[in-house]
Amino acid sequence: MAFQHSILSLCFLALFGINKAVGDAAKLNPDIITTDVAIIGGGSSGTYSAIRLQQLGNAVTLIERESRLGGHVNTYIDPSTGASFDYGVISFDNISVVNNYFDYFNIPLAPLDFFPGPQVYADFSNGTIVPASSLPQGNLGAALIAYEAQLAKYPNIYNGFDLPSPIPEDFLIPWGDFIEKYQLQDLAYTVFTFLQGVGNILAQPTLYILKYLPSATVSNILNGGFLTTAHHDNQALYDSALAKLGSNALLSSNVTQIHRSKDGVLLTVSTPSGQKLIKASKLLVAIPPKLSNLGFLDLDNEERSLFSQFNNSYY
Ligand SMILES: Cc1cc2nc3c(=O)[nH]c(=O)nc-3n(C[C@H](O)[C@H](O)[C@H](O)COP(=O)(O)OP(=O)(O)OC[C@H]3O[C@@H](n4cnc5c(N)ncnc54)[C@H](O)[C@@H]3O)c2cc1C
Ligand SMILES: *[C@@H]1O[C@H](CO)[C@@H](O)[C@H](O)[C@H]1NC(C)=O
Ligand SMILES: *[C@@H]1O[C@H](CO)[C@@H](O)[C@H](O)[C@H]1NC(C)=O
Ligand SMILES: *[C@@H]1O[C@H](CO)[C@@H](O)[C@H](O)[C@H]1NC(C)=O
Ligand SMILES: *[C@@H]1O[C@H](CO)[C@@H](O)[C@H](O)[C@H]1NC(C)=O
Repeated sequence: MAFQHSILSLCFLALFGINKAVGDAAKLNPDIITTDVAIIGGGSSGTYSAIRLQQLGNAVTLIERESRLGGHVNTYIDPSTGASFDYGVISFDNISVVNNYFDYFNIPLAPLDFFPGPQVYADFSNGTIVPASSLPQGNLGAALIAYEAQLAKYPNIYNGFDLPSPIPEDFLIPWGDFIEKYQLQDLAYTVFTFLQGVGNILAQPTLYILKYLPSATVSNILNGGFLTTAHHDNQALYDSALAKLGSNALLSSNVTQIHRSKDGVLLTVSTPSGQKLIKASKLLVAIPPKLSNLGFLDLDNEERSLFSQFNNSYY
């Protein structure tokens, strides 16, 4: 009976719009979920958004491909001692949004010691140990302060994608040229170690480096102000978030199709307990917005043209 009803409702979708049909069907069919915001991707962005939206009183459904939340967080637990060790995301900025988030789950933070043991440098192309004395040396502190003086010219570039108009010429020159222009050579190596995700850093437009290396991070480098979980278990944040979200988080699940209209968003999701139809008012996509990742989305030509320009290197 329920089966017949949902078939009928799906037929009515075309005739009477998504809202009423799905609303009626949801009363009878547990495989139809009605929610305020559907979120795709349970890494840092998607998980934080889900928790925050729920705190603000919204119903959310979070869809994650893997069998856990956390994305680039990776925590290893030593099976013999139970000790935990983070080898993915390690550090957090000491800012209120971070502190409030961890407090909400009662997970204590502590100052991060980046180099708790002896350091060994190696050339990964051939495995040769490289003496620390052969690494670039210089006055890092002075160079970071000179960099901050450049950053201070553009206080608003951290607010989304809005850029000053006209675009300052310095935004478009390669980072390598910017370093030479302002004699920042002494920070080149350290900045590279913090921003390995951008690929060939010296060739990137300076704007990207300015956005990835804001003054909060610079002051953390200068003052040792980064935080990490006191138990070196960053996964605990995501396991707590998962417990809070309960059945509103769908793990090991794939979105197969999305239909957006003025009435909302209809998602077809394949989950370990079968196919679900999610009817949401809003959609939040928190996975890398590359065309190759967005096959399930009903992109229009403008979106397709925009997303075809996005790429990533290592992360
Ligand atoms: C090794 C490493 C170390 C890092 N260290 C730090 C650090 O110490 N401090 C710091 O601030 N930042 C660090 N970063 C950067 C940080 O990881 C990213 O900024 C952050 O993870 C981005 O979060 P995100 O949610 O946007 O993406 P991700 O973490 O990539 O999350 C995306 C999620 O979406 C899921 N997903 C993908 N496709 C789909 C799909 N089709 N359907 C459903 N789910 C899907 C993925 O499984 C993943 O869980 C590090 C990154 C790496 C790789
Ligand atoms: C975080 O910043 C606050 C000031 O905003 C400071 O009192 C506190 O000691 C900092 N925590 C750590 C671990 O550095
Ligand atoms: C390893 O590679 C570096 C350059 O990438 C080179 O300078 C060095 O001589 C190499 N060492 C060995 C033992 O081949
Ligand atoms: C999701 O997709 C992956 C890779 O295509 C597949 O192995 C997995 O079985 C799918 N899971 C579900 C619940 O459909
Ligand atoms: C993205 O990077 C891949 C691998 O480096 C490359 O083949 C592809 O052409 C790039 N796409 C864009 C849009 O830059």
